[in-house]
Amino acid sequence: MEIGVYSMIKSQHRFITEKINSLEVEVFEERDTFLAEFARLYNFFLGVHAKIEEQVLFPAVAMLIQDLGVTEKSAAPSIDVLGRLAADHIMLEKLGGEICSAGKNLDERTLKSRFYAYKRISIYHDATEEQVIETVLKAANKEPSVLEDGIEKAEHIIDSYGREKLESYQRENAI
Ligand SMILES: [Fe+2]
Ligand SMILES: [Fe+2]
Repeated sequence: MEIGVYSMIKSQHRFITEKINSLEVEVFEERDTFLAEFARLYNFFLGVHAKIEEQVLFPAVAMLIQDLGVTEKSAAPSIDVLGRLAADHIMLEKLGGEICSAGKNLDERTLKSRFYAYKRISIYHDATEEQVIETVLKAANKEPSVLEDGIEKAEHIIDSYGREKLESYQRENAI
């Protein structure tokens, strides 16, 4: 079976975490390599990952929340949580953008503290997303497969980003 949207997002979460952990070593050792690799991850996050979440996955989760009955609703997060997750994307966009644009000229301590802030927010954010989604699925008594639809739209986002660019990034990083 072809990969669906939720499976794709979860495997991207594993990749993002691994990549951030490997970048942590480079931030101490090789700034140019770090900045180049950070920029690639940042572009992938903004151009592919967060876009698929906001345009495909979050609306599907919102529908599930809307369809919950009164009793199930009390066991699920409110729809506002999706707005907070989207607000995290803006925060990561801002923080990551600063690292990319000013990273060359930042003193080491500042660069590290920005990177660690990015790392902390990113890892916590992705874990929260999965936790929110699992809670909604449980409250709705649905299997994760209900969130696998919308792959055409996700593929379209990947096409706009550049399929070749993404595929070579994935090949290099074995994701
Ligand atoms: Fe996200
Ligand atoms: Fe995510």
